[in-house]
Amino acid sequence: MTVKQRNSRKSPGNTKDVPKVDERNGSEKENVRSGIRIDWRRIAIRLLMIIAILVAVYFSKANKMVLFAKQNEEIKKKSIEISCSEDYAEEVRHFQGCTPKKCGRMVSDLLIKPAEVAALHNIAERGLALGGSSGGASILDLHSGALSQGNAFVNIYKLDASKTIFTGQDFKIYSHVKGKIHQAIADHFELDPRQLFLTHPTFFSRITPAPPQTVHDEYWHPHVDKETYESFHYTSLLYLTDYGRDFEGGRFVFIDKDSNKTVEPRKGRVSAFTSGSENLHHVEPVTGGIRYAITVSFTCDPKHAIEDPKLPR
Ligand SMILES: *[C@@H]1O[C@H](CO)[C@@H](O)[C@H](O)[C@H]1NC(C)=O
Repeated sequence: MTVKQRNSRKSPGNTKDVPKVDERNGSEKENVRSGIRIDWRRIAIRLLMIIAILVAVYFSKANKMVLFAKQNEEIKKKSIEISCSEDYAEEVRHFQGCTPKKCGRMVSDLLIKPAEVAALHNIAERGLALGGSSGGASILDLHSGALSQGNAFVNIYKLDASKTIFTGQDFKIYSHVKGKIHQAIADHFELDPRQLFLTHPTFFSRITPAPPQTVHDEYWHPHVDKETYESFHYTSLLYLTDYGRDFEGGRFVFIDKDSNKTVEPRKGRVSAFTSGSENLHHVEPVTGGIRYAITVSFTCDPKHAIEDPKLPR
């Protein structure tokens, strides 16, 4: 509301003509002045209302978590491009055709077949049965043999049982699945697949709600993969269990300035993203059940390439 409209109530008949305001007599000027005073109050109230609305919008936005990939929807392919961080600047010259030029995230549920997911889940269960962290997070790395056991790690290939629990078929499926993820990352990020290499660590993870015993059990802190492992260029995850069915909590969250983007684990879901600080993320604490996944990591640096694991003899 304006001065003009206020005046129309106080002194009808002398209002519509704002330019004439200076020609008014003293008492009319008084009215205008008191009208202005009342308007300040209204303006203040209005400002407060606007501030309250802005605060409400800010907080509703701050709590907003966008579901990038919902557990119960089957995603053929969903992706988002984001601008790359500076993290790759120095490497771009060395690994042309592989270092990310286009950064982002990609999710696909149709890349890996259910039978392959079941086979990998089974390998993880068999392997991790030979060890397991005393805290909530255990890993099994078929490349190095690293297996969580109690508060430390052992080499699974030094355990007698490992000679009989794995089969050639296990390693065949593992390599085949890795190969499909490798190709999907190369396709999506427009890379020459021959310049992209599997790297260390690539591992199975099992997460339970058990309280942490060592720093290795603290998987939930926000982090950038490339800060933890400098050689990383592309990180992928293959989920082997279902969020909300096999376990509670344990969702994967990209931490963005505007709103966080959540990927709910689903059997067979592949989530791949560039490993730099454009993809700060964390995993919510698992509050029930058991969550299985594989982290499959890629580098452009051939010095950091690792071989596919082989059946031990
Ligand atoms: C995103 O998640 C992080 C880590 O849980 C949290 O600290 C932050 O407040 C969240 N951001 C938004 C915008 O919700």
